[in-house]
Amino acid sequence: MPNNLIFMTGATGVLGQDLVKELLKTTDSHIAILARAKNRASHSDRVKKILKAIDLDSHLGKRLHVIEGDVTQHKFGIKKADLEYLERECKVFYHIAALTALNGTEKECQQINVGGTEHALELAWDLRKKGKLERFVYFSTAFVAGSIWNHCSKEDELPVKPGFANYYESSKYKAETKVREAMAKGMPVTIIRPSIVVGHSETGVVSEFNVIYPFIKLFAHGVLSKLPTHLENTFNIVPIDFVIRATCAIVKDPRSVNKAFHVVSPKPPSIGMLLETGQQTYKTIPPIEVIDPKKFVKSQMNGQEQMVFAMLEPYLGYLNGHLTFDTTNTRDILRGTGISMPKTDRAFLKTLIGYAVKVGYLAI
Ligand SMILES: NC(=O)c1ccc[n+]([C@@H]2O[C@H](COP(=O)([O-])OP(=O)(O)OC[C@H]3O[C@@H](n4cnc5c(N)ncnc54)[C@H](OP(=O)(O)O)[C@@H]3O)[C@@H](O)[C@H]2O)c1
Repeated sequence: MPNNLIFMTGATGVLGQDLVKELLKTTDSHIAILARAKNRASHSDRVKKILKAIDLDSHLGKRLHVIEGDVTQHKFGIKKADLEYLERECKVFYHIAALTALNGTEKECQQINVGGTEHALELAWDLRKKGKLERFVYFSTAFVAGSIWNHCSKEDELPVKPGFANYYESSKYKAETKVREAMAKGMPVTIIRPSIVVGHSETGVVSEFNVIYPFIKLFAHGVLSKLPTHLENTFNIVPIDFVIRATCAIVKDPRSVNKAFHVVSPKPPSIGMLLETGQQTYKTIPPIEVIDPKKFVKSQMNGQEQMVFAMLEPYLGYLNGHLTFDTTNTRDILRGTGISMPKTDRAFLKTLIGYAVKVGYLAI
């Protein structure tokens, strides 16, 4: 039996996969992964396939264990024997699973992000009372601050009246509120708040082109040509390797109990820098007109552009540009660990775009 068991939801996703890899490399912990059946594949077959693709399948049954469950159910619908196993062994519980689609419906986001977190907390209380749970690590988002309201978001509080661009953001806000309520009642909690996660800092490698990538693709491929923003507006992206290494260092440090951490870029790139970098490197990228959002009239776009633009509404908050994030907790805890805050400069943008072009995601 493992003497140090981590239980993780969301391990089949982009961040979860990399976190499992890092924890196997840097700790001697065992990890129990929650997974569900999907698209006619059983939970265990799905995990096997994913782990094989990232070269971790040899750990299955040794340091990696799979537990069937779905976060939309009470205690994730986990079977009695597996619950007893978690009660006996689990010391750290990472709740990472979420619906991350920015165009998710209100109902889906409520069910998976809010309901899922309530069920995670219900289980965490059991593991704390009946077992030996020491920490509940919750993956929130920097955008609980609401991407359409300009202010400096603090780490150890939630803004009172944020402006949300989509149901993903508002549901993650509600979910973090639940986690903070549990913290106030004595659950030892660590909250990780990444901004927009993108490829590796040195290689640009990312397992899935999600969140901001499809947005960039539409402009790079000339599907859209007008962007309602200002060239000086910034968008906060953060390389995945920093998110993973910082998370491990934060959780390992006992000072991280009952705190939240902005895992973000301290100096995010501007829209102008992104457009310039793309267009200077790839001459085939069509011209993109940046329009003051106050003067942006949708009806002046052609029919196809209007349709695509309507689908992009949930993303537009990220072009807002004046939302900033306090990083005091993150900087304090990372001091002396050898992990520095990430650079998201022109060279990094070039690396990200270069990787997307190399693997054929961007045809420019
Ligand atoms: N990526 C970002 O830019 C970003 C930024 C800030 C914060 N975050 C937060 O970080 C976390 C991970 O993000 P990610 O990008 O890795 O997400 P992702 O790739 O979309 O993965 C989502 C994970 O949640 C699981 N999940 C969803 N619904 C579930 C359900 N009903 N039952 C069980 N598992 C379920 C998925 O499992 P299946 O494989 O079964 O679908 C998958 O493992 C999320 O909490 C997200 O809010 C992400």
